[in-house]
Amino acid sequence: MKISERLKEISEFISPEDKLIDIGCDHALLDIYLCEQYKDLNIIASDIHEGALKNAKDNVAKHKMEDRISLRLGDGLTIVNAEEIDTILISGMGFYTIKDILSNEPKMVNVKKIIVQSNTDVVKLRKFVIKLGFKITNEKLVKDNDIIYTIIEFERGLEKYTYDEIYFGPVIFKNKDDLFYEYYSKKLLKYENLLLQIPKYEVKSKLHHRHLIKIIRRALTTPVENQVDVKEEK
Ligand SMILES: C[S@@+](CC[C@H](N)C(=O)[O-])C[C@H]1O[C@@H](n2cnc3c(N)ncnc32)[C@H](O)[C@@H]1O
Repeated sequence: MKISERLKEISEFISPEDKLIDIGCDHALLDIYLCEQYKDLNIIASDIHEGALKNAKDNVAKHKMEDRISLRLGDGLTIVNAEEIDTILISGMGFYTIKDILSNEPKMVNVKKIIVQSNTDVVKLRKFVIKLGFKITNEKLVKDNDIIYTIIEFERGLEKYTYDEIYFGPVIFKNKDDLFYEYYSKKLLKYENLLLQIPKYEVKSKLHHRHLIKIIRRALTTPVENQVDVKEEK
């Protein structure tokens, strides 16, 4: 089974013992791939759109995985019982949809792990899931078709984070791999250009962009081994 680089990287976050729901499975290719990797893994795969679920059904049948991938039609966690899952995977959606899905508290009681790849507002996402009582246990930037995505894994627990850690992601900030420099160099350029276009009277927006430029510049120019000082500053 061939899947995209993004989905392959997401699959690395799943363990064979997870009681997994993949919400917004679309074609269910990731779920088929995962079941091929882990012979004991069973997955609940759901989608809100009938067309997507029909594709998923055809693909699952083609790979003879009907007894391992339970396909369900509906919105977010509404189609699952709390005791059926301990791991939630949501990828390829925007922050506000993800937020709505994860706001279903009664269905979240047994959830130990959340893996998310949001297409938007990754900083808001970190803040939101942390408020639900989770901490960030793993993260990765992944490049696929020239787009850089952020994959985040949360587990139950409390942890305090600095502003930089919430903004860049604590694991990503600690590792600073090549993709980090590529991603944030582009972001820096974007914010510098935006700042020039913001009219003088939009003071708040100007200040916000100046602040972002400052922290991104600092992150790009401070070597990882000197970052302890940066954290203590906050
Ligand atoms: C862009 S696709 C991403 C598919 C796959 N997860 C991936 O990462 O490639 C988003 C999918 O989420 C589904 N979706 C959107 N909102 C949803 C919700 N509230 N509950 C379940 N599925 C949803 C859409 O129908 C669509 O198939």
